[in-house]
Amino acid sequence: LLLGCDIGSSSVKTTLLDAATGKAVAAGSSPHEEMPISSPQKGRAEQDPGMWWENLVAAVQEAMRQADASPKEVRAIGIAYQMHGLVLVDKKQNVLRPAIIWCDSRAASVGDTAFHEIGEAYCLEHYLNSPGNFTASRLKWVMEHEPETFKKADSMLLPGDYIAMRMTGETATTLTGLSEGVLWDFREKQPADLLLSYYGIPEKLLATAHPSFDLHGKLTGKAAKELGLKKRTPVTYKAGDQPNNAFSLNVLNPGEAAATAGTSGVIYAVTDRPAFDPKSRVNTFMHVNNREQSPRNGVLLCVNGTGILNSWLKKILTNESAFDYNDMNRLAMVAVPGSGGLTILPFGNGAERILENREIGAQLLDLDLNRHGRADLCRAVQEGIVFALRYGFDIMRDMGIEPKWVRAGRANMFQSPLFRELFADNTGAVLELYRTDGSEGAARGAGIGAGIFRDEQDAFIGLEKLEVIEPDKERVKVYDELYQNWLTGLSRFLP
Ligand code: XUL
Repeated sequence: LLLGCDIGSSSVKTTLLDAATGKAVAAGSSPHEEMPISSPQKGRAEQDPGMWWENLVAAVQEAMRQADASPKEVRAIGIAYQMHGLVLVDKKQNVLRPAIIWCDSRAASVGDTAFHEIGEAYCLEHYLNSPGNFTASRLKWVMEHEPETFKKADSMLLPGDYIAMRMTGETATTLTGLSEGVLWDFREKQPADLLLSYYGIPEKLLATAHPSFDLHGKLTGKAAKELGLKKRTPVTYKAGDQPNNAFSLNVLNPGEAAATAGTSGVIYAVTDRPAFDPKSRVNTFMHVNNREQSPRNGVLLCVNGTGILNSWLKKILTNESAFDYNDMNRLAMVAVPGSGGLTILPFGNGAERILENREIGAQLLDLDLNRHGRADLCRAVQEGIVFALRYGFDIMRDMGIEPKWVRAGRANMFQSPLFRELFADNTGAVLELYRTDGSEGAARGAGIGAGIFRDEQDAFIGLEKLEVIEPDKERVKVYDELYQNWLTGLSRFLP
């Protein structure tokens, strides 16, 4: 068996995969119930790394119980995690402050200033991104605002590095992880020296970086006991949730793309080029299978406010009643395309990269009290999210990245038939739907890292395709027009 763990911002999910058949035999899930994301001030988003660990323990134990597996059956562990978060630890591996997570906006202006002062051309050529609102900029923020904490810091880690450290006792990161923090110089193939010295970050704060498929350490006795696994079980894969989602769907080569629509929504396209958007609205990070001889990068467009908006709507509409997402999806299909003129801008979860790190908030426009009801609202949320992804997809197209198909797991918003249709009709790409998720992908990754699968293709036995959704010519025309209306709405919030 292979164990995959996905440390998300709303829950931890686990999968036990049978390496012989490539099929999931059990799954666990544990939501960050009490305080999913704490926001001590507007624009801030923090989580307690200890909470990730507690929910991981629960989710691993649940999967083990469900599979009725004995600890020695688990041969390797893989970790996927919410990207870009900053976890600071001291020499004794104690966490120094709550993690500053991916949708926290505080460092956006730090990164924007760096982009201008270091020089946009330099940043783009070397880092393929603005330092932006990513991990390096977050650390600079801590250095300026919490110098006492900064002084004690021995290592800066990503959320998945923290989990691996709790498992193995090793502080380490990955090369893709460095790129995800804008701490990697793609041109020089080394850590981003100039940015580090501009920020005044000592290079020794960067943990040792491994490839994604590698031995990241072995379970300590203490961790094994807590998780109910065997001591010295190896951790052999670690990747950010978006590159991992692409990997989960066997999206590994140029021209291929994957999408997610959880709390955030992402389209992630693989390229072998050092592609970048001049305004850094879309970001380029290293893909999990990047190799010296065959470079692989992931061009990633992210909309922070995706499923989080739909879950907000569910909360206010249903108020503890038995009304669930399926009911909302059915209602949404009752409304007409364009939701009767109701426009939603979904940008309510922090600084949006596709809008050059602006925080315009979620907006409900053109509400007609005589005509609009719940159905329009349910539909407008799904349309607004897809239009926002389309906005980013157009930026990708301008970079010469134009995937003909996009794969997604049937999870989160992709469970909605309307959402799937909207996605295909608005991107113009064929949508391929699979039965898989990030934790299953992480289990496959562990199998590669441990040498249990011969190669990357061997790892995808058992991956099941569920449905192919082609764009519909007539509807494409309708949405082309409706998208223009949405853009008009958006333009009211942009300078
Ligand atoms: C991707 C991003 C989010 C998080 C969500 O760049 O910031 O999608 O990875 O966990």
